[in-house]
Amino acid sequence: MKPLLAFRERFLDVLASIYIYNEHRGYTSLDRVLEAVRARCPEEQAFIAAVEKHRGDERKHYLMFKRWFELRGRMPLKVDRTCGHIDQFIETVFGCTIENLDTGAIIADAGEFEKLCRVIMLTEQRGMRQVEILLDNSHVRSDPVMTRLFRIVEKDEPDHWIPYHDWLAAHGRVTARWRERWADFWIHKSLMLAKLPSLFVRPNAARLDRWPDEDEAVYLD
Ligand SMILES: [Fe+2]
Ligand SMILES: [Fe+2]
Repeated sequence: MKPLLAFRERFLDVLASIYIYNEHRGYTSLDRVLEAVRARCPEEQAFIAAVEKHRGDERKHYLMFKRWFELRGRMPLKVDRTCGHIDQFIETVFGCTIENLDTGAIIADAGEFEKLCRVIMLTEQRGMRQVEILLDNSHVRSDPVMTRLFRIVEKDEPDHWIPYHDWLAAHGRVTARWRERWADFWIHKSLMLAKLPSLFVRPNAARLDRWPDEDEAVYLD
Protein backbone atom coordinates (compact mmCIF):
# COMPACT_ATOMS: atom_id res chain seq x y z
CA MET A 1 0.00 0.00 0.00
CA LYS A 2 1.25 3.49 -0.84
CA PRO A 3 2.48 5.44 2.23
CA LEU A 4 -0.27 8.10 1.94
CA LEU A 5 -2.99 5.45 1.70
CA ALA A 6 -1.52 3.50 4.62
CA PHE A 7 -1.37 6.70 6.70
CA ARG A 8 -4.95 7.58 5.76
CA GLU A 9 -6.21 4.09 6.54
CA ARG A 10 -4.60 4.13 9.99
CA PHE A 11 -5.70 7.71 10.75
CA LEU A 12 -9.36 6.94 9.98
CA ASP A 13 -9.17 3.68 11.92
CA VAL A 14 -7.79 5.43 15.03
CA LEU A 15 -10.15 8.38 14.69
CA ALA A 16 -13.24 6.17 14.35
CA SER A 17 -12.09 3.99 17.27
CA ILE A 18 -11.87 7.04 19.54
CA TYR A 19 -15.21 8.35 18.27
CA ILE A 20 -17.10 5.10 18.73
CA TYR A 21 -15.81 4.89 22.30
CA ASN A 22 -16.99 8.44 23.01
CA GLU A 23 -20.39 7.93 21.37
CA HIS A 24 -20.98 4.77 23.38
CA ARG A 25 -19.77 6.43 26.57
CA GLY A 26 -22.00 9.39 25.73
CA TYR A 27 -25.33 7.60 25.41
CA THR A 28 -24.72 5.22 28.31
CA SER A 29 -23.68 8.11 30.61
CA LEU A 30 -26.73 10.10 29.54
CA ASP A 31 -28.89 7.42 31.16
CA ARG A 32 -27.46 8.64 34.49
CA VAL A 33 -28.01 12.28 33.51
CA LEU A 34 -31.62 11.54 32.56
CA GLU A 35 -32.18 9.97 35.96
CA ALA A 36 -30.84 13.16 37.60
CA VAL A 37 -32.87 15.50 35.35
CA ARG A 38 -36.14 13.60 35.89
CA ALA A 39 -35.59 13.68 39.66
CA ARG A 40 -34.33 17.28 39.86
CA CYS A 41 -36.86 18.95 37.57
CA PRO A 42 -39.79 16.55 37.03
CA GLU A 43 -42.06 19.37 35.83
CA GLU A 44 -39.68 20.54 33.08
CA GLN A 45 -40.95 18.28 30.31
CA ALA A 46 -39.22 20.15 27.47
CA PHE A 47 -35.83 19.82 29.16
CA ILE A 48 -36.40 16.11 29.86
CA ALA A 49 -37.43 15.59 26.21
CA ALA A 50 -34.28 17.42 25.01
CA VAL A 51 -32.04 15.15 27.13
CA GLU A 52 -33.93 12.09 25.82
CA LYS A 53 -33.31 13.28 22.26
CA HIS A 54 -29.66 13.88 23.09
CA ARG A 55 -29.36 10.29 24.37
CA GLY A 56 -31.09 8.98 21.23
CA ASP A 57 -28.76 10.96 18.94
CA GLU A 58 -25.60 9.69 20.66
CA ARG A 59 -26.81 6.11 20.30
CA LYS A 60 -27.56 6.79 16.63
CA HIS A 61 -23.99 8.16 16.19
CA TYR A 62 -22.61 5.06 17.89
CA LEU A 63 -24.54 2.84 15.46
CA MET A 64 -23.28 4.86 12.47
CA PHE A 65 -19.65 4.32 13.51
CA LYS A 66 -20.42 0.65 14.14
CA ARG A 67 -21.74 0.41 10.57
CA TRP A 68 -18.60 2.14 9.29
CA PHE A 69 -16.44 -0.55 10.92
CA GLU A 70 -18.76 -3.32 9.68
CA LEU A 71 -18.40 -2.05 6.12
CA ARG A 72 -14.61 -2.22 6.52
CA GLY A 73 -14.85 -5.72 7.97
CA ARG A 74 -12.96 -4.98 11.14
CA MET A 75 -13.57 -4.16 14.78
CA PRO A 76 -12.58 -0.88 16.49
CA LEU A 77 -9.29 -0.56 18.34
CA LYS A 78 -9.70 -1.16 22.02
CA VAL A 79 -9.22 2.20 23.68
CA ASP A 80 -9.77 2.97 27.34
CA ARG A 81 -11.22 5.83 29.33
CA THR A 82 -8.08 7.93 28.85
CA CYS A 83 -9.49 8.47 25.32
CA GLY A 84 -12.88 9.58 26.62
CA HIS A 85 -13.35 13.35 26.77
CA ILE A 86 -16.32 13.01 29.12
CA ASP A 87 -14.44 10.48 31.31
CA GLN A 88 -11.50 12.84 31.74
CA PHE A 89 -13.76 15.83 32.31
CA ILE A 90 -15.87 14.09 34.98
CA GLU A 91 -12.72 12.84 36.70
CA THR A 92 -11.17 16.32 36.74
CA VAL A 93 -14.28 18.21 37.85
CA PHE A 94 -15.96 15.65 40.15
CA GLY A 95 -12.85 13.72 41.23
CA CYS A 96 -14.27 10.27 40.35
CA THR A 97 -15.03 8.02 37.39
CA ILE A 98 -18.41 8.13 35.64
CA GLU A 99 -19.30 4.80 37.28
CA ASN A 100 -18.58 6.25 40.73
CA LEU A 101 -20.49 9.47 40.14
CA ASP A 102 -22.99 9.77 42.97
CA THR A 103 -26.25 10.49 41.10
CA GLY A 104 -28.13 10.88 44.40
CA ALA A 105 -25.72 13.60 45.59
CA ILE A 106 -26.05 15.42 42.26
CA ILE A 107 -29.85 15.32 42.47
CA ALA A 108 -29.73 16.63 46.04
CA ASP A 109 -27.34 19.53 45.40
CA ALA A 110 -28.25 22.36 42.98
CA GLY A 111 -24.59 23.37 42.55
CA GLU A 112 -23.52 19.84 41.63
CA PHE A 113 -26.40 19.47 39.17
CA GLU A 114 -25.47 22.76 37.47
CA LYS A 115 -21.85 21.65 37.34
CA LEU A 116 -22.91 18.47 35.54
CA CYS A 117 -24.94 20.52 33.05
CA ARG A 118 -21.91 22.75 32.38
CA VAL A 119 -19.63 19.74 31.86
CA ILE A 120 -22.04 18.34 29.25
CA MET A 121 -22.48 21.75 27.61
CA LEU A 122 -18.71 22.33 27.30
CA THR A 123 -18.09 18.76 26.08
CA GLU A 124 -20.71 19.12 23.35
CA GLN A 125 -19.54 22.59 22.30
CA ARG A 126 -16.06 21.11 21.95
CA GLY A 127 -17.51 18.20 19.95
CA MET A 128 -19.25 20.59 17.57
CA ARG A 129 -16.06 22.55 16.85
CA GLN A 130 -14.14 19.31 16.39
CA VAL A 131 -16.60 18.00 13.78
CA GLU A 132 -16.22 21.20 11.77
CA ILE A 133 -12.43 20.73 11.79
CA LEU A 134 -12.77 17.08 10.74
CA LEU A 135 -15.12 17.91 7.88
CA ASP A 136 -12.30 20.06 6.51
CA ASN A 137 -9.74 17.27 6.87
CA SER A 138 -8.61 15.75 3.55
CA HIS A 139 -8.40 12.20 4.97
CA VAL A 140 -11.94 12.36 6.29
CA ARG A 141 -13.16 13.87 3.01
CA SER A 142 -11.54 11.03 1.08
CA ASP A 143 -14.00 8.63 2.73
CA PRO A 144 -17.58 9.32 1.56
CA VAL A 145 -19.20 7.18 4.27
CA MET A 146 -17.31 8.92 7.04
CA THR A 147 -17.99 12.34 5.53
CA ARG A 148 -21.73 11.59 5.41
CA LEU A 149 -21.56 10.34 8.97
CA PHE A 150 -19.85 13.51 10.25
CA ARG A 151 -22.37 15.67 8.34
CA ILE A 152 -25.18 14.00 10.33
CA VAL A 153 -23.23 14.50 13.58
CA GLU A 154 -22.68 18.17 12.65
CA LYS A 155 -26.42 18.65 12.12
CA ASP A 156 -27.31 17.02 15.45
CA GLU A 157 -24.66 18.70 17.56
CA PRO A 158 -26.34 22.07 18.41
CA ASP A 159 -29.21 20.16 20.06
CA HIS A 160 -26.66 18.63 22.40
CA TRP A 161 -25.55 21.75 24.20
CA ILE A 162 -28.27 24.37 23.66
CA PRO A 163 -30.79 22.72 26.05
CA TYR A 164 -28.23 22.69 28.90
CA HIS A 165 -27.15 26.25 28.09
CA ASP A 166 -30.77 27.45 28.07
CA TRP A 167 -31.58 25.63 31.28
CA LEU A 168 -28.53 27.15 32.99
CA ALA A 169 -29.39 30.60 31.58
CA ALA A 170 -32.97 30.31 32.86
CA HIS A 171 -31.59 29.51 36.30
CA GLY A 172 -28.97 32.24 36.16
CA ARG A 173 -25.83 30.08 36.18
CA VAL A 174 -24.66 29.64 32.63
CA THR A 175 -21.08 30.82 32.87
CA ALA A 176 -18.58 28.03 33.17
CA ARG A 177 -15.91 28.40 35.84
CA TRP A 178 -12.42 29.10 34.48
CA ARG A 179 -11.26 25.77 35.96
CA GLU A 180 -13.90 23.94 33.92
CA ARG A 181 -12.93 25.72 30.68
CA TRP A 182 -9.26 25.08 31.39
CA ALA A 183 -9.93 21.37 32.04
CA ASP A 184 -11.90 21.09 28.80
CA PHE A 185 -9.06 22.75 26.86
CA TRP A 186 -6.32 20.50 28.27
CA ILE A 187 -8.29 17.29 27.94
CA HIS A 188 -8.90 18.07 24.28
CA LYS A 189 -5.23 18.93 23.66
CA SER A 190 -3.97 15.77 25.35
CA LEU A 191 -6.43 13.67 23.34
CA MET A 192 -5.40 15.16 20.01
CA LEU A 193 -1.67 15.63 20.64
CA ALA A 194 -0.87 12.62 22.82
CA LYS A 195 -3.54 9.89 22.87
CA LEU A 196 -4.40 9.85 19.17
CA PRO A 197 -0.74 9.83 17.97
CA SER A 198 0.30 7.20 20.52
CA LEU A 199 -2.50 4.89 19.36
CA PHE A 200 -1.60 5.63 15.75
CA VAL A 201 1.98 4.36 16.14
CA ARG A 202 1.11 1.24 18.16
CA PRO A 203 0.86 -1.39 15.40
CA ASN A 204 -0.23 -4.22 17.68
CA ALA A 205 -2.94 -2.32 19.53
CA ALA A 206 -5.71 -4.77 20.43
CA ARG A 207 -9.16 -4.64 18.84
CA LEU A 208 -12.52 -5.22 20.48
CA ASP A 209 -13.82 -8.75 20.13
CA ARG A 210 -17.45 -7.83 20.92
CA TRP A 211 -19.55 -4.74 20.30
CA PRO A 212 -20.04 -2.57 23.39
CA ASP A 213 -23.83 -2.36 22.85
CA GLU A 214 -23.86 -6.17 23.20
CA ASP A 215 -21.46 -6.30 26.14
CA GLU A 216 -20.85 -3.16 28.21
CA ALA A 217 -17.76 -4.69 29.84
CA VAL A 218 -15.86 -5.03 26.56
CA TYR A 219 -13.76 -1.91 27.13
CA LEU A 220 -12.92 -2.96 30.67
CA ASP A 221 -11.37 -6.42 30.23
FE1 LIG B 1 -22.26 12.16 19.14
FE1 LIG C 1 -23.08 15.12 20.80
